[in-house]
Amino acid sequence: MTASDAPPVTPPGSPEASPAPSPGRVRKAVIPAAGLGTRCLPLTKALPKELLPVFDRPALEVIAGEATESGLDSLVLVTGWGKSAIENHFDRLPALEEKLSRQPDLLDAVTRQTRNLSIISVRQGAPLGLGHAVGCARRAVGDEPFAVMLPDDLVLGPVPALRSLVQVFEQTGRGAVLVMEVPKEMIPSKGIIAGKQRADGTIDITDLVEKPRAEDAPSNWAVVGRYVFPPSIFPRIGASGSGALGEIQLTDAMRLLARDEGLIGVPINGRWLDTGTPLGLMLANVEYAWSGSADARAALRELLGRLERSDRPGEH
Ligand code: G1P
Repeated sequence: MTASDAPPVTPPGSPEASPAPSPGRVRKAVIPAAGLGTRCLPLTKALPKELLPVFDRPALEVIAGEATESGLDSLVLVTGWGKSAIENHFDRLPALEEKLSRQPDLLDAVTRQTRNLSIISVRQGAPLGLGHAVGCARRAVGDEPFAVMLPDDLVLGPVPALRSLVQVFEQTGRGAVLVMEVPKEMIPSKGIIAGKQRADGTIDITDLVEKPRAEDAPSNWAVVGRYVFPPSIFPRIGASGSGALGEIQLTDAMRLLARDEGLIGVPINGRWLDTGTPLGLMLANVEYAWSGSADARAALRELLGRLERSDRPGEH
């Protein structure tokens, strides 16, 4: 991608900056899943991190469920070498389905994703950054709005997190991104926005910085890994060269989109869970089990009570 691929810059406030009247339906979610999962080694030496369990299902199925519950019908998986287990997971397996024909619950568990979603798989040949990964999906997405879902970020809340972004996009025609306030120590590992909060709580984003030092950050509002973009994000990817960590950052393309067409921050409604580290994955498992199963809740209460007592001298 070269700078000459970028569309002409539209000054904010000019008539061209107004959104198209009909932004179109968001049908596809791009899922960058080519990373090596080094923060979770040795768990991820042979297993794609996206298939590590979150209570009773692989993490990627939690993401896929959020996509369907948000009205989407296709996933564009951006994978890489060693990740074919992901494609296999989303494939049909007639011999297994036949075997489970008298076990409807299990049959449903192994077929629900493929029943509801079309899967498109593309490869990211080289690890050049998140923006590059999303750019690899350009042809598969085509000229339509789309979502991006980072599989390390799970959101446990009353409504699917992506749905609120889809609604904002469909109402306004502007790109939307999930954001949350973070403690100072988390700022250097996130994309951080600048903007103005509106009466309805959403934020008009004026700028974004990827992984700033806490003292340089324009706010303490961080980007969480859920986005909805118009297709005009694609020519902006890589248009300003490589960014933080020497990578092609999605955040840099978002800064151009915010400046030229507007971009809306939607505050998270729920709990953000990071499955990208062993500790985060363990906590996500506990929270999902706690929220989804009365049996798990009873077992966890018993376990935590016992551990608590065993920490107090003289009590076992
Ligand atoms: C990515 C994005 C960052 C965002 C974060 C959310 O960073 O680049 O802007 O805040 O996901 O989890 P990564 O976690 O891939 O370093």
